[in-house]
Amino acid sequence: MVDGVSVPKNIVLIGFMGCGKSTVGRELQQRLGYPLVDMDSLIEQRTGKSIATLFSELGESGFRDLETQLLEELYAPEAPRRIISTGGGVIVRPQNRTLLRQLGYVVWLQAPVGTILDRTSRNRDRPLLHTDDPRARIEALLTERTPWYRETAHLALDTRGLDSGEISTGILESARYFFTGHA
Ligand code: S3P
Repeated sequence: MVDGVSVPKNIVLIGFMGCGKSTVGRELQQRLGYPLVDMDSLIEQRTGKSIATLFSELGESGFRDLETQLLEELYAPEAPRRIISTGGGVIVRPQNRTLLRQLGYVVWLQAPVGTILDRTSRNRDRPLLHTDDPRARIEALLTERTPWYRETAHLALDTRGLDSGEISTGILESARYFFTGHA
């Protein structure tokens, strides 16, 4: 129980673009057998539009509205346990930060700027990085967002040197401990 409210046993992955949320989400799905909700993919499926198209048609704030609506929907009292992989900017809104913590155990995946740059440069589907100097944009966004990731997460996990299996094992062990304390 947290503040008299029982915490649903979801595992929620947050972190900057390119920190491995989707890959680790799939690994956790296989290990636990829980359904995986990849928020970006679900928003794309439901709207029939890519994230880049949604950003250009609705602006960033319209896209954030879609994220908030989805988080509210995921917080349904009778919802099954899930792995929830979020988009990197979901923590920008205070309302979302509260919703994320209510959803379950929140894990913040961290990676060095060089790794983020390398992974995100392999495709063009991140509109916020469509700039002449993606490294500077990544550094600025990380500076702005780090306090919000910290505030939202129950666990911060530096993924440097770890593969997705090792990261998942760490998450599962600490999630078990967390949920035992919040039964
Ligand atoms: C965003 C991260 C992206 C996607 C959108 C905005 C962000 O998700 O939601 O491009 O603001 O950091 P990933 O973290 O899965 O790349």
